[in-house]
Amino acid sequence: MMNLKMRIILYSLFFALLSSACTNNSESQNSESTEQGTRNIKISDAHSYANISQISTEHLHLDLDVDFENQTIYGVARHQMSDHASEIAIFDVKELEIMKVTTGKKGANEKSTEYAIGESDEVLGAPLTVSISKKTKFVNIYYKTTDATEAIDWLEPSLTTGKTQPFMYTQGQAILTRSWIPLQDTPMNRITYSADVKVPTGLMAIMSASNPKAISETGQYHFEMKQQIPSYLIALAIGNLTYTPLGNKCGVYAEPENAEAAAYEFEDLPKMMTAAEKLYGNYRWDQYDIVILPYSFPFGGMENPRLTFANPTILAGDRSLVSVIAHELAHSWSGNLVTNATWNDFWMNEGFTVYFEGRIMEELYGEEIANILATIQYQDLQMALDELGESNHPEDTHLKLQLDARNPDDGMTDIAYNKGAFFLRTLERDIGRRRLDEFLRKYFNTFAFETITTEQFVDYLNAELLEPNNIKFNVNEWIYKPGLPSNCISIKSKRLAEMRKLASYYNKDKHGLPKSLKNKTRDDFITQEWQTFIRSLDYDIDVKDLKILDDQFKFSQNGNAEIKTEWFQLCVRAGYEEAKPMMRNFLTKVGRRWHIMNVYKRLVESNRPEDYKFALDVFAEAKSGYHYVSRSTIEEILATKKG
Ligand code: BES
Ligand code: ZN
Repeated sequence: MMNLKMRIILYSLFFALLSSACTNNSESQNSESTEQGTRNIKISDAHSYANISQISTEHLHLDLDVDFENQTIYGVARHQMSDHASEIAIFDVKELEIMKVTTGKKGANEKSTEYAIGESDEVLGAPLTVSISKKTKFVNIYYKTTDATEAIDWLEPSLTTGKTQPFMYTQGQAILTRSWIPLQDTPMNRITYSADVKVPTGLMAIMSASNPKAISETGQYHFEMKQQIPSYLIALAIGNLTYTPLGNKCGVYAEPENAEAAAYEFEDLPKMMTAAEKLYGNYRWDQYDIVILPYSFPFGGMENPRLTFANPTILAGDRSLVSVIAHELAHSWSGNLVTNATWNDFWMNEGFTVYFEGRIMEELYGEEIANILATIQYQDLQMALDELGESNHPEDTHLKLQLDARNPDDGMTDIAYNKGAFFLRTLERDIGRRRLDEFLRKYFNTFAFETITTEQFVDYLNAELLEPNNIKFNVNEWIYKPGLPSNCISIKSKRLAEMRKLASYYNKDKHGLPKSLKNKTRDDFITQEWQTFIRSLDYDIDVKDLKILDDQFKFSQNGNAEIKTEWFQLCVRAGYEEAKPMMRNFLTKVGRRWHIMNVYKRLVESNRPEDYKFALDVFAEAKSGYHYVSRSTIEEILATKKG
């Protein structure tokens, strides 16, 4: 016993030395040289310990036993490795318990091998260094998840719609996959994967892979993802789910109680697919489905390949939030097919996707709707520019980010999304839609199933689009400089201008309702019109007028999540106490980060002490229902309050 322990300690020391020798040399870590024209680009991902330039996973097979009782996954991650000359393979792990590591093909041939877990970093987790030989083809990591696992949200039945069965889902982006699977967690490496998953009977398991259409009687499921994907796109959801097809290539998974609403909301999905393919080429993932998760899901949508994860808040009942689906579908090209090489290149995923989303929306619903969405995005962008400009990191307004010693989550702001999209829209204005589309189609084909850095893209843009057409464009200013370049395209929407005019009624010391709103109801305007109306109201608007507006349009009761988010922020700013009970309902029900983050921010920045108290109190009640992603963001926001 003593002997074995001592041996383990010695080995751990040995491997700790090995792996720290590896990670200290950040230049050689994960670096790959790519010739692009005359430039020699060094790429490395500061957010992973994996030694992928020496050895990398090619295929991952997962054997998973999902235990809802103990909220634990017992797993084996079977990595099939590339040819190599390395004697160590380094994986990323975070908050996982590693039981043993073997090499060799599954079964009798497996042999235990030595491994060591290095020092753990709060953001990155730790390197898992495994001793292998130059001939090792398979590395099998036996592990279980822990209570601290950040990717997984385990939900009691009470937090689901049906309230009878438990639910669980994972969220991998940006670097959380390593907290539920030990792997090389960098988008620079693409892998195929398969999985055998055992769940309690009566529940359906689905993944970002080939999926079942019905609940298995044995609780046993098999999955295949045959296209190569980055690790952040591996995803699993388990619950009482049913499948509704919406066309021959798409459909929606939902709890039975939500199935009809979901099928109604996404009726246009096949048309979106057609529009997207017409724009930028074939859909390369065979099937496109959506799953409606519980309200705690921290995003509106997440583009897991073949299976978008969606928050039920997008089931607005009037299809007014389907742009989220257009967005996630667009990621099937921008992001999933051509992937940001590192999290510093995040705009290559999101900026392109917001642009593409707008094009799909225009194709289906016309130019005015696309302009309405772009106008809201422009307002969001201005707010982000203001906020980040005054922050400790004004350089976060660059498209190309520098997040190396930081949490990649810090870069997930409206800059990547909306400055990125406005870059492409401005380029479109100067170069013409036809030529930009042709370029983008070629770009998606050229880099399909590869990763791309901002620098590679800039070279490609110059060589393929700007130089041949003799066009001067301030690419460097857009990508490597703060703020918004002055040549940014201006997009106007008549309908939103009308809403701003309606809101300005209250600036003139008038009260009650403007005449043209008197006979109107909530349903007379779409979500984005109300968003603009509410955003345009003065923060010191009389609370009596807020009451009149709420009585007439029922924002705090019947508004969808987008409207409520705007409305509750205004209520805090204007000191409208009566909204608090509904605000509490909202913040304890919905866990979508973008929404709740904004409301909490207003509560924290308010100089009325009761607002901060309210925020703390609501958070204490709500936090056990939030996913780690939202919980940690809100904790940070609450901690910014001084004194
Ligand atoms: N990929 C993102 C969600 C994400 C970003 C997860 C960063 C983890 C880290 C997804 O495509 C997204 O952008 N969702 C938006 C949709 C919106 C922009 C239409 C959301 O959830 O609000
Ligand atoms: Zn996105």
